[in-house]
Amino acid sequence: MDDNKILIFDTTLRDGEQVPGCKLNTKEKVELALELERLGVDIIEAGFPISSPGDFESVDAISKIIKNTIVCGLSRAVQKDIEVAAAALKYAKRPRIHTGIGTSDYHIKSKFNATQDDILQRAVDAVKLARNFTDDVEFYAEDAGRTQNEYLARIVEAVINAGATTVNIPDTTGYCLPHDFGNKIKYLVNNVPNIDKAVISVHCHNDLGLATANSIAGVINGARQIECTMNGLGERAGNTSLEEVVMVLKQHKELGLYTNINTMLLNPLSRQVSDVMRMPVQPNKAIVGANAFSHSSGIHQDGFLKDSLTYEIINPEEVGADGSKIILTARSGRSALAFRLQNLGYDFNRNDIDVLYQEFVKVADVKKEVVDIDLKIMAAAYNNSTAVSN
Ligand code: KIV
Ligand code: ZN
Repeated sequence: MDDNKILIFDTTLRDGEQVPGCKLNTKEKVELALELERLGVDIIEAGFPISSPGDFESVDAISKIIKNTIVCGLSRAVQKDIEVAAAALKYAKRPRIHTGIGTSDYHIKSKFNATQDDILQRAVDAVKLARNFTDDVEFYAEDAGRTQNEYLARIVEAVINAGATTVNIPDTTGYCLPHDFGNKIKYLVNNVPNIDKAVISVHCHNDLGLATANSIAGVINGARQIECTMNGLGERAGNTSLEEVVMVLKQHKELGLYTNINTMLLNPLSRQVSDVMRMPVQPNKAIVGANAFSHSSGIHQDGFLKDSLTYEIINPEEVGADGSKIILTARSGRSALAFRLQNLGYDFNRNDIDVLYQEFVKVADVKKEVVDIDLKIMAAAYNNSTAVSN
């Protein structure tokens, strides 16, 4: 594999679909899987086959229809889970079993009432079993973010020896700070003797709003796969948002990293996911929010209208967004008003705009946003008044 390519592992259909109210049926999941393949993701986590007959059916249907992308099924480090995942992936051209277990003391002691050695053995057994069904096995060390690095390194080394080809280091609770998470990945790179035999993956949750930052810290320090979802959907505060990490890597060329994502499809797919999951996207969401390319304050509008790069680091077309918008509010200035009136076909000079602006701010103070019809009314009133006075 090219060492600078970052694999995009999309888990919208698994971690994303865990969001209350976002449950999808098989038809909806298949439609989204096809779109994710078109987007260029490298791996689609299609579901958790043992969790329900419906999810088994979805993973099976996605396996049958997807041609090039790796299709992945989740399992716990439990024999039945792994067998059921393998059965659901039977028809996949490129099947991956994703198996794993909690590795932090919270999990080992509170959840499993076990020891580190027991958990390590269960991890190794799970990976060996999964390898009987496919050569592509990913191991997740759940709550790796809060797992001691020495033990994490031991378990990662053991699962790679057992046949894991990807090792997933999740910050399951979204607890880590970017430099700590980056150092965790660096520690594994430097302390796991067989680390070159596997791809390191990062799977960050957003409980402190740090999922994107942590994922980027992960790849800067040697991870080569990011697990993420469209619109950042996922358990609790969500997962790393696909559109954000992809655009961070695209914008920051100095990192020397790239993905296979066709970024022009990001906004259309974001809308489709939002519609089918009935989960609105917050307007100020980076890349895909309705306001991501809207300018409403006078200072910004003036700079943007002189040179868009003054206030926009991404060309909206590059991410399939509708285009930049100049929104008129009580904070907007004369240049924005002139621009919008010009777009409506009016040809006012500077003096006209000065007069119209006085009327505009009165209307804007009352209304949250001044829209085209308000502008037309203002322009008509102004034209009438000047016609009468002439
Ligand atoms: O957040 C997490 O740790 C997970 C694992 C199942 C990969 O979703
Ligand atoms: Zn997760």
